[in-house]
Order: sequence, then C-alpha cells, then structure tokens
Amino acid sequence: MRTKIVAGNWKMNLNRDQSLQLVTDISAEIQNYNLNGKRVMVFPPFINVGYVMDSGNRNYQIEVGAQNLHQAESGAYTGEISASMLTNIGVNTVILGHSERREYFHETDELLKEKVDTALKNGLEVVFCFGEKLDERHSGNHFTVVETQLKKALFHLSSANWEKIILAYEPVWAIGTGMTATPDQAQEMHAFIRKIIANHYSENMANKVSILYGGSVKPDNAAEIFGKPDVDGGLIGGASLKSADFAAIIKAM
Ligand code: PGA
Repeated sequence: MRTKIVAGNWKMNLNRDQSLQLVTDISAEIQNYNLNGKRVMVFPPFINVGYVMDSGNRNYQIEVGAQNLHQAESGAYTGEISASMLTNIGVNTVILGHSERREYFHETDELLKEKVDTALKNGLEVVFCFGEKLDERHSGNHFTVVETQLKKALFHLSSANWEKIILAYEPVWAIGTGMTATPDQAQEMHAFIRKIIANHYSENMANKVSILYGGSVKPDNAAEIFGKPDVDGGLIGGASLKSADFAAIIKAM
C-alpha cells in the first residue's frame, strides 16, 4: 500500500508567532483523529522550521520539513541553506522543484537534479514538484513536459533512491488560481506518471511511489481528487494556512 500524504506548503507566509499559532490550531483540530499510517507534513519558511518543529504545542503526528536547499554541501553562498543544516535540526523532508522556484528563481531541471542528489546524499526525503504550464496543456504537450521534467531530474536515480522520493504533480495553471484540475485530469496524469516510471524501472516500483496532486486543493474538492486511484494525497498551498481548511483536507484523505 502506498503512503497517503497531505503536505502544507506555507511558502513565504507567517511570522514566528503566526506559525506557532497555526501549528497549534492544526494540532488541536486533528487531536482525536487517528492518521492510521497516513502522513501530515507542514513546510514553514526556513527561519521558522526549527521553531515549529520544537514547539511543545505541536501534535507529533505533524511532520515539519523545509521548502528548499542549496545544492552545495557548504561554502560561500550568501543567503543559502545546506542539506546538513536541515538534517542537523531534525528535518527529514525537503520540497524541491516547486514551480515558483522554477519560475522566479530560474531553477532548471539540471539544477534540480543536483539538488535532489544533495538531498538524498544527506539522507533527506524529497517531495519533488513538477507540472505543465497552461499553454503547454492547451497545446497538448503536457505529457511530454511532465515526462521530460521527471527524466531530467530523477531518472538517473537507483530504485533504492526512489524510496526517498515523493512526487507532487502540480499543473502550474492550477496553483493559487482557484482553477483546480478536475479529478479525472489529475488521475489521467498520475496514471501516466506511474506508467513512465514502470517503463523505466518496474511496475512494482511505480506502484510504491506516492504521487500527490497540488493546485487549488480545498476542503470542498479534496475528497473527490484524493478518491482517484493514482492520487495519494495533496500538496496544499493557500488552504494549508487555515487550520480548519487544512484539517478538513487531512480528514478528506
Ligand atoms: P495552492 O498551492 O494550493 O495555493 O494552489 C499549491 C502549491 O503551490 O503547492
């Protein structure tokens, strides 16, 4: 059985006090809820990762990860954060390849491959994001775009490495727009992703990879999207900043 996951990407939102409040509120919302092996994660901005992680108010079912890392192990890279700095404070999981990093910080597939390697070398698990833009979907190129993104950044990995990879398919046109992919569009792409992994590796391995959907997941559409056979949960942006909404999405899983 694949692990089901709901992950909240807080992006560049919430100061320290607000972060504490949010994790406290989410903890209260799911206090009596048995996750039954499903995973819940939140990804605060770097500066608040350790604080949220160590907060006594946190329900320990909620894992805390980071939104990015630098590909180098250490050195003269002003303003950057390394993998070992993350693991040293207890971080297990890092998001890489988010479309906002690709778009605003010019992160390429080649750079992401390096970042993935650095993360894995340091024992981190990766939530790897990818997805097509609106014009790419309109022109019918969405499958090719997704396949290329995965091949360039991940297909050099060994099958054993893939135990530390969680995929997050996030069509760029659905992120923060309120325009979510239909459950059928998500299912179609997730099944395609599983097929190309099966072709490159094996069916067995493809069936073990958790593939999350991201892009305007809300309490009122989560259950239907998560109900699709190849959708193993979601990466949530906007709705992860409201405890009641995030808790409802967790329960929809
Ligand atoms: P959204 O963001 O839920 O606000 O669309 C998703 C994401 O960027 O991961």
